[in-house]
Amino acid sequence: MGQEAHGSCSGHDRMIGRLNHVAIAVPALDRAIPVYATMLGASVSERQALPEHGVTVVFVSLPNTKIELLEPLGSTSPIAKFLESNPAGGIHHMCYEVEDILAARDHLVMQGARILGDGAPKTGAHGKPVLFLHPKDFLGTLVELEQVS
Ligand code: CO
Repeated sequence: MGQEAHGSCSGHDRMIGRLNHVAIAVPALDRAIPVYATMLGASVSERQALPEHGVTVVFVSLPNTKIELLEPLGSTSPIAKFLESNPAGGIHHMCYEVEDILAARDHLVMQGARILGDGAPKTGAHGKPVLFLHPKDFLGTLVELEQVS
């Protein structure tokens, strides 16, 4: 097989692009931020409350990607249950970039993948449209798709 066969995968246009961030759920940002800012010497953003997502978030900037630290916000936070099973915190989701989130969604639904919520993109922490995919369809990993232009 030559390079051509490697580069062109018949019938499958490449859909996901770069890893945008890895998200870690934490019980308390007060204790989580110094781990990255002080121990690891990374640059950490200001806190951002996202009530519609039930989290407060900070972003750790790395040269090639970001780490998102998520703390529960409100009594119905979607990460509350995760933290019950992972009281010290843990990797919560991976976010991949796509160019067209609606095309990506339709492509995935056609293949039997489940989209969380009502299937309509929400505005994510970067002000861009995001969707979450069911972990049972993605090797036990919660996947976020973010549209980048
Ligand atoms: Co995310």
